[in-house]
Amino acid sequence: MIGRLNHVAIAVPDLDAGVATYANVLGAKVSDRQELPEHGVTVVFVELPNTKIELLEVLGENSPIAPFLERNPAGGIHHLCYEVDDIIAARDRLVSEGARVLGDGEPKTGAHGKPVLFLHPKDFCGTLTELEQV
Ligand code: CO
Repeated sequence: MIGRLNHVAIAVPDLDAGVATYANVLGAKVSDRQELPEHGVTVVFVELPNTKIELLEVLGENSPIAPFLERNPAGGIHHLCYEVDDIIAARDRLVSEGARVLGDGEPKTGAHGKPVLFLHPKDFCGTLTELEQV
């Protein structure tokens, strides 16, 4: 059911520093910043030949990544995102398998303007898992 790895997301305490690490030290191409108030994060995407790295910084209050950064003050891998063809069909199948969808269970619009859902880490080997319809 799942397709390509769309991105690996890394939460960072300082987005400018994260961008500098990827752009200057690692020599990667990094997108412009994008504020996503609905998701409580500011993001950039590092474009790699085979996938992307999403760097996440807290935006506003009640950011979903704030507790993660409290536990991991230097930052760390926050979630993986897999592509699916049909996010509603994927969700319904996963729910029927006993997986938990975070939030109200309905897709939200993600950073690429496409529907996304997040799945409970305890149901996926301890890893917060995002699905994106492509
Ligand atoms: Co993501």
